[in-house]
Amino acid sequence: MGVVAVNLLQFVSLVVMVLVSTQTLAQKDWGETLPYKDMVKEMKVTKLQFYLHEIVSGDIPTSVTVVPAPNNQSSSMFGSIGMIDDPLTQGPELTSKAVGRAQGIVGFAGLNQTTLLMALSFVFTDDKFNGSTLSILTRDPITDPIRQFPVVGGTGMFGFAHGVAYVRTYWFNATTGDAILEYNVTVVHY
Ligand SMILES: *[C@@H]1O[C@H](CO)[C@@H](O)[C@H](O)[C@H]1NC(C)=O
Ligand SMILES: *[C@@H]1O[C@H](CO)[C@@H](O)[C@H](O)[C@H]1NC(C)=O
Ligand SMILES: *[C@@H]1O[C@H](CO)[C@@H](O)[C@H](O)[C@H]1NC(C)=O
Ligand SMILES: *[C@@H]1O[C@H](CO)[C@@H](O)[C@H](O)[C@H]1NC(C)=O
Ligand SMILES: *[C@@H]1O[C@H](CO)[C@@H](O)[C@H](O)[C@H]1NC(C)=O
Repeated sequence: MGVVAVNLLQFVSLVVMVLVSTQTLAQKDWGETLPYKDMVKEMKVTKLQFYLHEIVSGDIPTSVTVVPAPNNQSSSMFGSIGMIDDPLTQGPELTSKAVGRAQGIVGFAGLNQTTLLMALSFVFTDDKFNGSTLSILTRDPITDPIRQFPVVGGTGMFGFAHGVAYVRTYWFNATTGDAILEYNVTVVHY
């Protein structure tokens, strides 16, 4: 009788220990998966139009070459890598209202074709978009009249964004390399 009581006590305390440790484990859990429908917020669409100024010449270039092409005979500048911090404006003139910056890495990725690989973060500084960002990771065949860049994400106003940027070279100076690009961006976001 006494032995059974002790065994029962041991069993109960074991069960309590297991329960407590399970609870501790649950508290320490660092990931949670919920049904997608629980993100009840409706999706919205935002369309943006702005101009990007690629300033290569002058005292304060916003686009610099960091690694020159290893083969200086390559007309497509294959292998050259640069960094940009280009101003974005509402209109095509650099003096029109500033709306943000495009910051990131640009590399010449075509062996025989002048085409870029770009990893860019667009940070907006104006109006309700102030502080919000969009991320673009794309190929850019720069000689095509109109290019499409995938928008792969965003923050702030543009949380969970995805979309497409339609981009056209608005102006280009072949002597200096300076350019103005017209961006029409359509993004879906929360
Ligand atoms: C191109 O590279 C070759 C071999 O490295 C070098 O001799 C030549 O000076 C370079 N030309 C220019 C214009 O940089
Ligand atoms: C690039 O051009 C060279 C010389 O014309 C050619 O041999 C090579 O196959 C081309 N490569 C590609 C990827 O088109
Ligand atoms: C954008 O936000 C920054 C930081 O909060 C603030 O300093 C700046 O004045 C804002 N700009 C505009 C145009 O609202
Ligand atoms: C951007 O939109 C404007 C007007 O909505 C249009 O005239 C222009 O051609 C578009 N540009 C691009 C690159 O799609
Ligand atoms: C391109 O830049 C050069 C050098 O600054 C300048 O002389 C020329 O007028 C510019 N061309 C255009 C079309 O703006």
